[in-house]
Amino acid sequence: MSSFPQIRMRRLRRTEALRALVRETQVETGDLIYPLFVVEGSQIKQEITSMPGIYRYSSDLLPGEVDDIAKLGIPAVILFGIPEKKDEVGSSAYDPEGVIQQAIRTIKKATPELLVVTDVCLCEYTSHGHCGVVVDGYVDNDKTLELLAKTALSHAEAGADVVAPSDMMDGRVKAIRQALDKNGFQDTPILAYAAKYASAFYGPFREAAESAPQFGDRRSYQMDPPNWREALREVEQDIAEGADMVMVKPALPYLDVIRKVRDTFNYPLAAYSVSGEYAMVKAAAQQGWLDEKRIVLETLTAIKRAGADIIITYYARDAARWLSSI
Ligand code: PBG
Repeated sequence: MSSFPQIRMRRLRRTEALRALVRETQVETGDLIYPLFVVEGSQIKQEITSMPGIYRYSSDLLPGEVDDIAKLGIPAVILFGIPEKKDEVGSSAYDPEGVIQQAIRTIKKATPELLVVTDVCLCEYTSHGHCGVVVDGYVDNDKTLELLAKTALSHAEAGADVVAPSDMMDGRVKAIRQALDKNGFQDTPILAYAAKYASAFYGPFREAAESAPQFGDRRSYQMDPPNWREALREVEQDIAEGADMVMVKPALPYLDVIRKVRDTFNYPLAAYSVSGEYAMVKAAAQQGWLDEKRIVLETLTAIKRAGADIIITYYARDAARWLSSI
């Protein structure tokens, strides 16, 4: 085995051309999904306090936004709805005229080539803010499945390209797959939030989506952060139930989980760089404490290096601009 001085690791780092030649991981705009928050009403563009630069839009403003997103080369958006009316069973989640169903139709009309992924969950639509039906203070798994399936089906009927259940009920991928297949949507893929942790990093999102639980927390259905073996079982289950793509969420604090899933399963893998990850970087950048562009590109590269094929990020629009000017 030869070593120094025959081997000099620095030889291939000397110029940018050499570094580019041996670069192992490349983030591309085509890997990114941009989240959009949609509210009812018109002419609303409302900044989210804990996520500067991220807004809630009413549907009438979406055509301009999605046109810009598509022009940047971002292939997909993921939609979150904030309904006017919430109730115990999240009725507006599966209302054919609901905020998301209308948004899907608006976007598909404006930019048919842009993929529309929908978040399938009840927490933004329930008065108690939990992701399912509450019975005696506990989120009832099996009663929730039918409502999730109805929600996913209503998204597909409105024109969604991909449905993404994020509720963490057991059996929801199977319930959604059956509902889609029975109604002629056998070609609509499911991106399962398979390993979704009960994370404090969702804080800013809950402000954005007005979806904080009104009592208790989500730890009886989302995963316990210390567990990675369990993440592999979650992914295995979702694949067995018919998931086409799987997700790990959050991203940056869970790179080890992303790597494990990548090494264990041959399915397209998404990572969700969540609201708290965005807020941390944005806050430090606004203070002048970090170089925002470099931090974001380094972070996205790390998520990809860990094994993610797809990254959902609030920085997608900035990243697309930065990547095209490198
Ligand atoms: C809905 C949902 C949440 C996020 C995505 N889908 C919130 C939660 O589970 O509490 C979080 C996204 C983010 O923080 O950016 N269940």
